[in-house]
Amino acid sequence: MSDPTPVLTIDGPGGSGKGVVSREVALQLHWNLLDSGALYRALGYMLLEKDVDRADIEAVTKIAHTFPIVFLNDQVYLEDDNITAEIRSERVGAVASEIGVHEPVRAALLDVQRSFAKSPGLVADGRDMGTVVFPQAFCKIYLDASPAERAKRRYLQLKDSGFDVNLAELEAQIVARDERDKTRAVAPLKPAADAVVIDTTELRIDEVVAKVVGIAKERLPAD
Ligand code: C5P
Repeated sequence: MSDPTPVLTIDGPGGSGKGVVSREVALQLHWNLLDSGALYRALGYMLLEKDVDRADIEAVTKIAHTFPIVFLNDQVYLEDDNITAEIRSERVGAVASEIGVHEPVRAALLDVQRSFAKSPGLVADGRDMGTVVFPQAFCKIYLDASPAERAKRRYLQLKDSGFDVNLAELEAQIVARDERDKTRAVAPLKPAADAVVIDTTELRIDEVVAKVVGIAKERLPAD
């Protein structure tokens, strides 16, 4: 039997740089990319759009099993609607975090996430990639940075995308979201026991990318 598809997981809190680092690492390795946060956000967006009662876990889980999400050329669609920009708001992020505490909702999203593990390899970006979704990953990275630095990065990102944001409010929202992600009973945000933890507070993106690609290449069989 041939070896399974190699999976490199990159977990960490919002603003730790995992999104941009994962994208760049996937480009350099010529591997597929899973942005699992976009999946939780798209589900949150759909619940808001359809005005679904988020306390009704059965209804939310049903939608999570069937919602028509498509990832294509770096864009996220719900059927024909391109929702790439809309899902980046803090409001949608907060709903994603709210529904992510429920085990049945998380379980409903497992198959679609695992379906991204295709040859020649996968870079999986999220909160529980190394701990729950891909525990067999050959390389697990956990990125972190101080809350103030993460808020600053998110602020610049959101401003760039045309959102009207306030830095102090953003830092408070980020800390609240971290707290919920880290303390939830199911799949809490934490480094896997075998993860390499990198503090990116003082590092540039290209330095983090080089570190991650270096660690991955050391572990991959030479071809
Ligand atoms: O990474 P991003 O900020 O896009 O994720 C939005 C929210 O989705 C997170 O705060 C988290 O609550 C949830 N999420 C999750 N598990 C993942 C990815 C995201 O619970 N693997």
